[in-house]
Amino acid sequence: MDECMLDSTSVIKLPPHHSGKVRDIYKIPENENLLLFVTTDRISAYDVIMGEGVPDKGYTLTQLSLLWFDMMSDIVPNHLVTADVSKYPESCQPYAKYLVGRSMLVKKLNVLPIECIFRSRLTGSYWNAYKRAIVQRTESRYVSFKEVCGFKFPTNLQENYEIMPPLFTPSTKANLGVHDENVSIANASEMVGMEILAKVQDVGSRIFARAIEYASERGIIIADTKFEFAYDENTGKIYLVDEVLTPDSSRFWPTDKVRLGITPPSFDKQFLRDYLSQLDWDKTYPPPPLPKDIIVGTKERYSEILLKLLL
Ligand SMILES: Nc1ncnc2c1ncn2[C@@H]1O[C@H](COP(=O)(O)OP(=O)(O)O)[C@@H](O)[C@H]1O
Ligand SMILES: [Mg+2]
Repeated sequence: MDECMLDSTSVIKLPPHHSGKVRDIYKIPENENLLLFVTTDRISAYDVIMGEGVPDKGYTLTQLSLLWFDMMSDIVPNHLVTADVSKYPESCQPYAKYLVGRSMLVKKLNVLPIECIFRSRLTGSYWNAYKRAIVQRTESRYVSFKEVCGFKFPTNLQENYEIMPPLFTPSTKANLGVHDENVSIANASEMVGMEILAKVQDVGSRIFARAIEYASERGIIIADTKFEFAYDENTGKIYLVDEVLTPDSSRFWPTDKVRLGITPPSFDKQFLRDYLSQLDWDKTYPPPPLPKDIIVGTKERYSEILLKLLL
């Protein structure tokens, strides 16, 4: 489909399961254990869905997720059944032309109520929290440090400082219109159980490490990312679900443009956020209209990262 598919999944007359900021998810009448996962061209910033879509964005997010699902399948199983529309159940076939390239048939799973965020650079909300954190001293009073989400850091770090090994900073999954919030490891452990939390931390760290290596060979730094996992009580298995390592869920930076202390130009929503932050807009609905060059610039960034990672 050529045109921007912003809200046109309304042409799909399957029973709705859930509509998120970016995806419209449908039930499959033939099989209650499956879902049709359609990625639209909608874009959100500060958890507000913009009035305009970004052409081809749903395609880019889907193709990147497919790349990573495949690459990580020996580390963790995932929710993908197939992205080959000709293999979807009969009830999906009337919509085939809208689904090609931007949809997946997935297993319906119980998604854990936490977002598994991994960070390899001090940036974004974590950098802001670091800057705000008060300087503390150890009991001996000789060593000062800052504490962010339970992790201790030296007090003199600059923006983009490389965090090795990457940090696991889970957050709550907020409902539409409410911002996600960082939670401590202890709170996250209360929410999903200690064993499951340890498992998603282990799996997430391994996926992130492999992705960082793959991306670095292509001149890309992955500064942070968010994974979602599901737990299947019947099999006791953890599944990787949702989208994986896309420009919506991750910060991708061109390696050659990254310097300590400056925010690098990124292949993600930062371009849109930068535009929005100059406006007198309170980051609630309704969103401001987006000028054409901001939409085109965002589309170009999404397309560029797809090519860099896929080729
Ligand atoms: N396999 C799955 N089974 C059930 N729900 C899923 C599965 N994979 C992802 N989800 C959920 O589907 C939604 C994806 O839609 P999206 O537009 O990204 O939502 P959000 O606005 O919450 O980010 C998320 O709420 C995610 O947790
Ligand atoms: Mg999402």
